[in-house]
Amino acid sequence: MSAPASPSAHSFFMRHEFAIRRIHSLLGIVPLGLYMCVHLTTNASLISGSDMFQRAVYLIHSPGQLLPVIEWGGIFLPLLFHAIIGVWIAKTGRSNSDHYKFTNNRRYVWQRVTGIIALVYLFFHVLHLHGWLHAHVWLSVIQPIGFGAFSPYNAASSLVQAMEGYLWPAFYLVGMLACVYHLANGLWTAGITWGLWISPNAQARASKICTVFGVLIAFIGTTAWWAAVAPGEKEIAEYRQIEDRMYEASVESGWIPENEEKRSKRDTQITGGEVVEIELVETE
Ligand code: HEM
Ligand code: HEM
Repeated sequence: MSAPASPSAHSFFMRHEFAIRRIHSLLGIVPLGLYMCVHLTTNASLISGSDMFQRAVYLIHSPGQLLPVIEWGGIFLPLLFHAIIGVWIAKTGRSNSDHYKFTNNRRYVWQRVTGIIALVYLFFHVLHLHGWLHAHVWLSVIQPIGFGAFSPYNAASSLVQAMEGYLWPAFYLVGMLACVYHLANGLWTAGITWGLWISPNAQARASKICTVFGVLIAFIGTTAWWAAVAPGEKEIAEYRQIEDRMYEASVESGWIPENEEKRSKRDTQITGGEVVEIELVETE
């Protein structure tokens, strides 16, 4: 059994605090902040139609076998590092008060609060749609209970299906807006961490720019959210038909490799005006 991580781990952080804070800050901007902006924009493209969204998801999944390496190296590990250090900062209550003497502490408090909301949100969001790991054993445990619900080759229909009910939509709206605040305000506090805006005037100017940026990303994020939660059963069935046609054509043209695992196991059909859901059974 390992000993509780306390005095030595604590003093390690203290000794290297300057470097750790800067790595933490940098990771929050690149790759995490950049990823979030691209991610929300991609998801917002669903508002223009399921074919548009499907094309974007094909492109994201085009690295094939390399995708897990890119996901872990480029997103999950930086996220884990940023989250662990973030929780440590939030718990120890260590503020950058030296850097912060010109403004009040409210924004730092919200930065921490939204960081903790982001932690809970991202843990369940990735589990809900992506599943964290794509190992067969793991998926066979989580998929029957509604996690790992996103099927990349039936992107829109599986996303909308996963958002059924009121709980997930509410959870996503709060989590997404918390992440947006965290990034927009985080860019402003990062400017202080890196000494980019020091004087009260410079901080006030930067504050306006970060607010405009935050409102813009919140608008894109809300569009993504609405595109995922608003459609009903009829749209799911229509999306499904478009996706299946795109799949056949894309495999035939060699644009994407055949991969049944990336397709949804649930199907919907419009029969006599009624939308009927069918559970697909794999055959040899
Ligand atoms: C996963 C859960 C997360 C936790 C627990 C967390 C926690 C924190 C905390 C506590 C801070 C304040 C640091 C301080 O007071 O000096 C912070 C700053 C920051 N976070 Fe996060 N965060 C998380 C996710 C994210 C994500 C997803 C992004 C990007 C979209 C992000 C971007 C930033 C930025 C840009 C800063 C400002 C860094 C600075 O002031 O130098 N964080 N985070
Ligand atoms: C309305 C809001 C959102 C929607 C509709 C949404 C949708 C999705 C979908 C469909 C996936 C699965 C992608 C795949 O497996 O190929 C995913 C994964 C992911 N999302 Fe979101 N997302 C939203 C908000 C956010 C926010 C605010 C963040 C914060 C950074 C975020 C971070 C992630 C991460 C880290 C993954 C796993 C990596 C990946 O698969 O690309 N999402 N999201």
